[in-house]
Amino acid sequence: MARSTRSVALFLVLGVAARAVSAVSDGMLPNGHFEQGPDKSQMNGTRVMSPNAIPHWEISGFVEYIGSGQKQDDMILPVPEVEQAVRLGNDATIRQQLNVIRHTYYSITFGAARTCAQAEKLNVSVTPESGVLPIQTVYTSSGWDSYSWAFRAKHSTVWLSIHNPGHEDDPACGPLIDAIAIKALHPPNHVKNNMLRNGDFEDGPYIFPNTPWGVLVPPIMEDEHSPLPGWTIMSDTKVVKYVDAAHHAVPRGSYAVELVAGREAALVQEVRTVPGRPYRLSFSVGDAANGCVGHLAVVAYASRATLSVPYESRGTGGSKRAELAFVADHNLTRVVFQSANHYMKPDATLCGPIVDDVSLVPAVHAHAPTARRLRM
Ligand SMILES: *[C@@H]1O[C@H](CO)[C@@H](O)[C@H](O)[C@H]1NC(C)=O
Ligand SMILES: *[C@@H]1O[C@H](CO)[C@@H](O)[C@H](O)[C@H]1NC(C)=O
Ligand SMILES: *[C@@H]1O[C@H](CO)[C@@H](O)[C@H](O)[C@H]1NC(C)=O
Repeated sequence: MARSTRSVALFLVLGVAARAVSAVSDGMLPNGHFEQGPDKSQMNGTRVMSPNAIPHWEISGFVEYIGSGQKQDDMILPVPEVEQAVRLGNDATIRQQLNVIRHTYYSITFGAARTCAQAEKLNVSVTPESGVLPIQTVYTSSGWDSYSWAFRAKHSTVWLSIHNPGHEDDPACGPLIDAIAIKALHPPNHVKNNMLRNGDFEDGPYIFPNTPWGVLVPPIMEDEHSPLPGWTIMSDTKVVKYVDAAHHAVPRGSYAVELVAGREAALVQEVRTVPGRPYRLSFSVGDAANGCVGHLAVVAYASRATLSVPYESRGTGGSKRAELAFVADHNLTRVVFQSANHYMKPDATLCGPIVDDVSLVPAVHAHAPTARRLRM
């Protein structure tokens, strides 16, 4: 009897698992590279004329389908590594319906290049959540950057939309989008001997395997979800860069964060502390072996303590450990990392030191029981 109940339960679990298989899996979305284009009859020049002309996508507004080497006002548009991209003109939207697992966190990664508009932004949304991503600053020499954004699925079927809210004189002046991928995120768990969540940055947004420039994590407003679980980015318009060991030197594990925006962006995590207690924050500072040469430095803050960690970079990889001791002032303490300065690679793109393997522990943890015993 008990066994049959158990097998019914097992059957139900398997049934749920089988249904979950239909949810979107990590990686490129269906037609995420726009490799399947519209039929010629559904286009006027490069403009896509019908809402369902691009397989798996729905469009509205001034959307163009661009092939490699497409010319615009004598300017060769950058469309590297894939043959196709879409351009979102004034008020244009592309959207796709996704099957997801309810209450699960997901990150979206997409490749974007700005063109002729002044202050380009993209509004990425999965109702009821949305985020306006500044894409004004270019962080690669190719002009293409990968951006990330995260949401928590409220329903099992959602629409992912990317909208250009711009209003340029030239309706065709808008960003190009060339690839869109998704990745389920784990809720940031606490691990033993570290008060910080995701301190090694091993959980984060999807990185396209064929892009050597990592993925940008944009500023995150309060109550928005982070594609880098546990961490938020505080900035007006700047970002941090999430880099992988496949294309960069990473102090530990498979991922790290490159601080690419000087003091204009901060990598932040808030943690519960006991006022008056001492703590020890330790972390690795290094370079990602991406040609960022010079006297780099990371500045770390916690409570009222500050530590500047200089790092001589030859741009070929390497790292060192640093430690900041502080006494908590409040029951919540913000741990903050910034690059001390703006740094540039020889190709004039922004770069900076990397941070990895961050840990926070109470400084007197090991001695506390002894002290208590002595007092008795
Ligand atoms: C195609 O676009 C051109 C230029 O914008 C316009 O003059 C023409 O009427 C359009 N053709 C169709 C069939 O919509
Ligand atoms: C972004 O798009 C969402 C969904 O369409 C919308 O609710 C939100 O108001 C937009 N945000 C901005 C700043 O335009
Ligand atoms: C943290 O401190 C604030 C004010 O200092 C207080 O209002 C709040 O209740 C405290 N929270 C906890 C969990 O102790």
